[in-house]
Amino acid sequence: HSADAHRTDLMTITRFVLNEQSKHPESRGDFTILLSHIVLGCKFVCSAVSKAGLAKLIGLAGETNVQGEEQKKLDVLSNDVFIKALISSGRTCILVSEEDEEATFVEPSNRGKYCVVFDPLDGSSNIDCGVSIGTIFGIYMVDGHDPTIEDVLQPGKNMLAAGYCMYGSSCTLVLSTGTGVNGFTLDPSLGEFILTHPDIKIPKKGKIYSVNEGNAKNWDGPTTKYVEKCKFPKDGSSPKSLRYIGSMVADVHRTLLYGGIFLYPGDKKSPNGKLRVLYEVFPMSFLMEQAGGQAFTGKIRALDLVPKKLHERSPIFLGSYDDVEEIKALYAAEA
Ligand code: AHG
Ligand code: MN
Ligand code: MN
Ligand code: MN
Repeated sequence: HSADAHRTDLMTITRFVLNEQSKHPESRGDFTILLSHIVLGCKFVCSAVSKAGLAKLIGLAGETNVQGEEQKKLDVLSNDVFIKALISSGRTCILVSEEDEEATFVEPSNRGKYCVVFDPLDGSSNIDCGVSIGTIFGIYMVDGHDPTIEDVLQPGKNMLAAGYCMYGSSCTLVLSTGTGVNGFTLDPSLGEFILTHPDIKIPKKGKIYSVNEGNAKNWDGPTTKYVEKCKFPKDGSSPKSLRYIGSMVADVHRTLLYGGIFLYPGDKKSPNGKLRVLYEVFPMSFLMEQAGGQAFTGKIRALDLVPKKLHERSPIFLGSYDDVEEIKALYAAEA
């Protein structure tokens, strides 16, 4: 067909998910409806973030969250929008957010079969200086009975879908429903996410490592050895480049597209590191595996972890398959 058929054959995220759904004849479109509400939330946050500076939406909200972090106005606004959008979808029964100490149990009349875990605004420390931030989400199925907190404490390998939306130079939504990873870019003139990165595969090995070297004093042996190897390779190969943005969504998106490794290790001060299992580690690990990479906690495959608490943290090493293999070998040697 004509050269610019793709320009008229718009593959929106809704159409893409409907195509996926058609592969499951038994499905009644619930997932598609849930996703359309998550997409609505992302469009709202994208718009709020882009005019945050103008609309006095920067700075602190004056509260502190369960993480002990001072909440930014955008943290609170994004959280409110996602909670309301997810409840109004009528397809969720439990919601877990970084910004809420307790899980939200949707009242029975509006309850669906999905549990959504999410970080409404990731990289909050970067809001006021205009560096990319994002939203991260993961979706579990909860079977029929009255939902309890145990229904949320599932290993990441049980997730049906995971994704993130990055609010940067463009608004990019990266999603996996378990059969690979696809990237969509928001066309503001249409208000639609259009497929721009079909079937993303992470390079098998990368030339970039991404870690907050400011924590080096407290790192354990294997992490110290690995970073040393990146900087002073013994095999005559050239040193890796260091890229660290400080928003997990941005660091992971670059790792997914360019290859390399992202590390948030544990250390003497925080043995479980900083990143939260349910709504940061699991969704990003799910995406990395779906793109042909891997994700490791320093002990086990990240998706095999079974969380005991909602806001539990874990060290995480994720990215190109071969790069993560190297750090796994260093931890195995130390075990
Ligand atoms: P959040 O803004 O949702 O609390 O997450 C911030 C996280 C993550 O985005 C990033 O990778 C990490 O904090 C950066 O931590 P450091 O500043 O300690 O490097
Ligand atoms: Mn936070
Ligand atoms: Mn976060
Ligand atoms: Mn956050």
